[in-house]
Amino acid sequence: MKTFYIETFGCQMNAHDSEKVVGTLVTEGYQQVETAEEAELVFYNTCSIRDKAEQKVFNRLQQFKKDSKGKTFAVLGCVAQQEGEKIFEKAPHVSMVCGSASYNKLPQMLVQLEAGNKRVTGLSLDTEDTFETPMTRRDNPHRAYITIIEGCDKSCAYCVVPFTRGPERSRTSASVIAESRQLAEMGYSEIMLLGQNVNSYRDPSPAAWDFATLLDAVGRVEGIRRVRFTTSHPRDFVRPIIEAIATNPSLCNHVHLPVQSGSSRVLEAMRRSYTREEYMQRIAWMKASPRAIAITTDVIVGFPGETEEDFRATLALLDEVEYDSVFSFKYSRRPNTHALALEDQIPEEEKSRRLAVLQEHQRQIQIRRNADYVGRVEECLVEGFNKATVQWIGRTSQHKTLNFVHAGSEDLLGRYVDVRVTRSGPNSLAGEYAH
Ligand code: SAH
Ligand code: SF4
Ligand code: F3S
Repeated sequence: MKTFYIETFGCQMNAHDSEKVVGTLVTEGYQQVETAEEAELVFYNTCSIRDKAEQKVFNRLQQFKKDSKGKTFAVLGCVAQQEGEKIFEKAPHVSMVCGSASYNKLPQMLVQLEAGNKRVTGLSLDTEDTFETPMTRRDNPHRAYITIIEGCDKSCAYCVVPFTRGPERSRTSASVIAESRQLAEMGYSEIMLLGQNVNSYRDPSPAAWDFATLLDAVGRVEGIRRVRFTTSHPRDFVRPIIEAIATNPSLCNHVHLPVQSGSSRVLEAMRRSYTREEYMQRIAWMKASPRAIAITTDVIVGFPGETEEDFRATLALLDEVEYDSVFSFKYSRRPNTHALALEDQIPEEEKSRRLAVLQEHQRQIQIRRNADYVGRVEECLVEGFNKATVQWIGRTSQHKTLNFVHAGSEDLLGRYVDVRVTRSGPNSLAGEYAH
């Protein structure tokens, strides 16, 4: 039996692709090991969203440049798709380069590798297929990822994803529901629906479900207690999604809705296809929901041409929305993208300054928001135990981390418990087991 090791970078889509790649490899008779050193086949599933992410894989490959005997290296994911055969030049000890749109061909590609082929590639983006696997080796015993839509048809000026993951392809609603049922039978209680833009989902079967219908149906699968989804694109974020969350208690009351900027002028330059006002309309719908919905977002600072006034507009938007959490990034120039050639690039130090200002601003918002939870009782899925602090790690429906103490000795892992919140911080809550 051949051994393999896989390391994954990037987003949850990549993490889940790796679970499916592992399932495919195991089905083909390979055995997974814990370190690259002991493996014959080494896979890196890579991310290219920002320059720093891309550099990681080349650092890893560099480590083995001199001593790669007896090992075969394969680069998967977004850097593989973006750089293609150039990777063979940069790292001659790599034998396979394969983007996510070609994973269905992995079994054939493995045969080529075994035959001693040193330049095996899977780089076509011209596909209508999604990655279907005989088996998926899931890492988390409670929360299962399901990809419902692959690729991206938007063309945000800063983003590599349309070039690395190809066109949007949705899975049929029947296969998503079948997989959800199967997962419930296997003991999973939480499902996370994944896609670069989940709400652009379009059922290719005659049933022709939209995203809200699919979401609601997954939430009605017996045994599934929590359904999450990420990421949503503001343009396709429609009211039925909020109505589904309001009426179906299995749907978690958390929406991740990346805004990127609070300035309509910058949004237009980013080609995001919505204005600040249109985005705020979606926020207003959510705030009007009878069920309190936690809202999180992504922000890019220092997009070419972003003025101090534009940046202030983003800070003001954070105040207006009062996000529960924000992922913020310095704009990074990416190959092939429209923004690469834009003039008016913002100096690195200025981007760093804006990022620090924004993060401190948001930290204060989170301190205030989380303080409101003190005294409440929240249902948590118990995800872990922290030996150092002797606390259980719980996750609320709103996706907040709630660490709690419990006097009893029973194993709470994977159980749903009620926890009384006694303290709060910017990034988490703390409390005690209620029942
Ligand atoms: N499909 C999702 C985004 C996926 S990428 C959406 O449209 O919302 C995750 C996040 O990375 C983006 O939301 C954006 O904030 C950030 N990002 C993407 N390209 C970037 C770049 N060139 N520089 C900095 N951040 C970037
Ligand atoms: Fe990138 Fe925009 Fe597509 Fe999101 S919607 S993956 S930011 S191109
Ligand atoms: Fe990175 Fe590709 Fe995901 S670029 S963020 S791994 S879609």
